Amino acid sequence: MPRLLSSALSLVIILNGAAAARQNAPDVERRVEDLLKQLTIEEKIELLAGVDDFFVRPVPRLKLPRLKMADGPNGVRNFGPATAMPSGVAMAATWNPQRVESIGAEIGRDARAKGVHFLLGPGVNIYRAPMNGRNFEYMGEDPFLAARAAVAYVRGVQAQGVTATIKHFAANNSEFDRHNTDSVVDERTLREIYFPAFEAAVREARVGAIMSSYNFLNGEHASQNRHLMTEVAKQDWGFDGVMMSDWGGTYDGVAAVNAGQDLEMPGPRHTNAKNLLPAIEQGKVSVATIDDHVRRILRTAVRFGWYDREQTDLSIPRYNQQGRRVALEAAREAIVLLKNEGGVLPLDRKRVKSVAVVGPNAYPAVPMGGGSGRVEPFAAVSLLEGLSNALAQTANVYHHRGLPTLSELADATSFRTAAEGGEAGIRAEYFDNADLTGTPVITRTERRVNFRRQGGASFPEKTAGDRFTGFFTPKTAGEHDLFVESSGEDGGRFRLFVDDKLVLDNWTTHPAMVNQATLNLDARPHKIVLEHRGRSYWLGGRLALGITGRGGLIDPQARELAARSDAVVIAVGFDHETESEGADRTFRLPPGQDELIKEMLAANKNAVVVITSGGGVGMGEWVERAPAVVQAWYPGQEGGTALAEILLGDVNPSGRLPVTFERRLEDNPANYYPQPGTKRIVYGEGVFVGYRGYEKAGTRPLFPFGHGLSYTTFKYDNLAVKPARGGTFEVTFDVKNTGSRVGGDVAQVYVTPASAPVPRPAKELKGFSKVFLRPGETKRVTVTLDARAFSYYDVNSKSWRAEPGDYGVLVGRSSEQIELRGKATLSP
Ligand code: BGC
Repeated sequence: MPRLLSSALSLVIILNGAAAARQNAPDVERRVEDLLKQLTIEEKIELLAGVDDFFVRPVPRLKLPRLKMADGPNGVRNFGPATAMPSGVAMAATWNPQRVESIGAEIGRDARAKGVHFLLGPGVNIYRAPMNGRNFEYMGEDPFLAARAAVAYVRGVQAQGVTATIKHFAANNSEFDRHNTDSVVDERTLREIYFPAFEAAVREARVGAIMSSYNFLNGEHASQNRHLMTEVAKQDWGFDGVMMSDWGGTYDGVAAVNAGQDLEMPGPRHTNAKNLLPAIEQGKVSVATIDDHVRRILRTAVRFGWYDREQTDLSIPRYNQQGRRVALEAAREAIVLLKNEGGVLPLDRKRVKSVAVVGPNAYPAVPMGGGSGRVEPFAAVSLLEGLSNALAQTANVYHHRGLPTLSELADATSFRTAAEGGEAGIRAEYFDNADLTGTPVITRTERRVNFRRQGGASFPEKTAGDRFTGFFTPKTAGEHDLFVESSGEDGGRFRLFVDDKLVLDNWTTHPAMVNQATLNLDARPHKIVLEHRGRSYWLGGRLALGITGRGGLIDPQARELAARSDAVVIAVGFDHETESEGADRTFRLPPGQDELIKEMLAANKNAVVVITSGGGVGMGEWVERAPAVVQAWYPGQEGGTALAEILLGDVNPSGRLPVTFERRLEDNPANYYPQPGTKRIVYGEGVFVGYRGYEKAGTRPLFPFGHGLSYTTFKYDNLAVKPARGGTFEVTFDVKNTGSRVGGDVAQVYVTPASAPVPRPAKELKGFSKVFLRPGETKRVTVTLDARAFSYYDVNSKSWRAEPGDYGVLVGRSSEQIELRGKATLSP
């Protein structure tokens, strides 16, 4: 396999922030000062807020161009199609900074082809629990891994003359009610878990922009949090670029400007002359403060060359073939083989002459989750197409969705307006307010509850909330699945009552875009009341209610195809309408999918489950019976090709989990939801996030952090840990491919602490190296551990400290599979 290039990566030297800032060529600063002098105070204020959704206002008099922005982080979302890369969590799953840098470079090229100056990525909010609707965009649960991936991404983008914008700063780790929740996180936890990816992007890659988050952090909006923006990012780390708000994430112009925000996006709602001029006159905002903000915008523009050249690079093809190749290579390295028993995988072309590809995620392709991270590619390869293309000469590939869509399920759910008699349908009351108060403006009978902006009915105009009341009679008594599907954000609020009992509550918060419950219903009419508020058209304006009896969902033809074929591939998971920005998701797979998997496993023992998701999903109902399980993440536009290559063994899987997959949701260590009756999300687990938390509790996850199988085997040997220059340690060891296939492995270096005055995780990832080896080949790997690798953040001295003593140095293939043990001694 020539495409599997050999590479061994080691840690990079950490530049400190002050040094990064000093790299400013003096002539950059001279030009900035020269421009600044020529601006009036009104012009300066105009520069501190965007315009037209994605632009910074131009100053034609000084030839300052209109600066253009685009999402981020999985490709260049705005202004037409672009390469859809494997999403952030998949980038992290490659454990290959070189690969991530090449992704960044192609995203940067796509940005140049569109004339974009600010690329709104990477996203690095730490994965605390699988429910966060934006986990798919972010880079996993570990700050060290996320930092390596973020630095690589930023370097790749910025080398193209485009600034990266690392987001969302900080502790925006859930989507429900994201403008109002208050993340309560202690300082040590922020420094050790939630900040490092941002810090590394500033110090090592000199990222040009940071986007603050929507949430409050410790009682203060992130966008007006002086500690966060000024003390930590600008003063401690030496950040000299642009601190911008998230879209609509500025809540008070004066407070934001004084706290360190340089740019309000998308427009001057708060940061405008009306608010700032009087504040300046009254001495509430100083001109020096305004100047510092303006300087940062000018500095970024000068530094990236935006004054001196046209940003649109017409020499870059819009349909980027080089980008496609990188998307494919990255997907090959990102996909994780979670389980493979009985040699099901790779599928043997000689034996497998027919394959049934079943499930909602088989076709069309599911390259990306939803929201602002959803890049629309020119073309995307589905798993069905990928596998059919790869097997065209040797096997027949059959396809069945197996399950109805959520829309079809909602359409098939019939109601009557009364328990006895009445008419077919459900009584709808539409209100002009989101609290459903007063007299409804429209009352009518709807056939069903299934609203979606594209196709299907839309909500009546000038209404803001709805109540649906009807009766549902099961065909036969027994277990029923009920679901409500909604768009995220403010259109996602609903509550469902069955026989006057609250069954699903998405009313004050918004736990899931598609929320589900299972109830035992007898065969009589049951009163159903669904209340819903808000619209959220930008996320699709959806509302659907479905009720289905267990046992009748799976199409018999899918079962027959699975039974007749030599193998069945079951493609399940989420998509952009069920896992998205603006809402969270359930741990449980979307409605009907567990049932589909179980039926397919019963029909054919040669079965592979392929999961599309941004993180862990509930597998408890079937994982013991599934011989092979593959984690696809959102694999980008070439995902179907890469999946097929992995299923067939043309590519040996080398992706590793950047998050821990729990067996049961209760096992997850995070305090994910707000304290009852409050908006406060208390990060009570502190630094014990992900594997740090599982290890503390002694809980075995389903698949540990760092886990991923290969079709070959590796052996680790000859560990040496030696003190090196500048207080660092060099960790060297051999990795040998002891199997019969070319393959890549990720050697992971964890450090265990010496005794310390604060509770420290049993071990923490501090280095890694992805190594590709031919059969029989051995490579000596070197990983450098710097002072930070041994340190914790000491809140009293406000500095990083490592106590003298013996630190364990563990080399392993996951957080649980440790192969070699050594030690590093720090002397007093
Ligand atoms: C998201 C940001 C995004 C911005 C612009 C916001 O809703 O939170 O991540 O960059 O929109 O699309």
